[in-house]
Amino acid sequence: MEYDLQSEQTLLDDFTRLWDVADKIWEREDGTAPFAAYVSADYMAVYQQLKSLRDQVETFLEWGSGLGVVTIMASRMGFDASGIEAESTLVDYSIDLASRFDCSAKFAHGSFIPDAFTWDPSQGDESERTAIDLPAGYEQLDLDLRDVDLVYAYPWPTEHPLYHNILNEFGAPNVKLLTYDAREGIGLVQLNES
Ligand SMILES: C[S@@+](CC[C@H](N)C(=O)[O-])C[C@H]1O[C@@H](n2cnc3c(N)ncnc32)[C@H](O)[C@@H]1O
Repeated sequence: MEYDLQSEQTLLDDFTRLWDVADKIWEREDGTAPFAAYVSADYMAVYQQLKSLRDQVETFLEWGSGLGVVTIMASRMGFDASGIEAESTLVDYSIDLASRFDCSAKFAHGSFIPDAFTWDPSQGDESERTAIDLPAGYEQLDLDLRDVDLVYAYPWPTEHPLYHNILNEFGAPNVKLLTYDAREGIGLVQLNES
């Protein structure tokens, strides 16, 4: 894998520059409409998790990929990685960062919620910041959610049941969901268990 060809330190040097560039974009754009639901993860914590999963997982998808940083990291670490993001401005930034950081990951503008998903608040489906009114982005990526081994997302604390319900219905058997949120930190669960 690409990851094996370069030392971890080289990769981390590149990632540190990427995190810095992304943080500067966020500082500059904070308060603008496309960044209304944007908060960045603890990138080092996510990197450590990806490192521990790299022998178990091939296909990676970031739900709500923001500036694309985690997807770019996953791609550079050898995963077959892509991201779906609701805000086109953020998708444009992601594509630009991917080309600047030598990354072949793909990004789509759209929703990570499959069009066929039926909301059921009695099952805990709740949205605080997740966009619920735009078409899914899977077709643009030519990707079926059932072909994804690992989904990464940064849900709001009340949104975890929604994310679980989507994967229990549309995910691959035993799909992994890696999450980061400011309150809970890193989480890793296996869903749609067979
Ligand atoms: C909390 S930020 C996380 C950014 C990045 N994933 C990270 O962990 O650093 C959540 C992102 O999800 C995007 N988003 C919200 N609802 C979405 C949806 N239904 N489909 C795709 N992206 C969505 C927001 O625009 C925002 O960029």
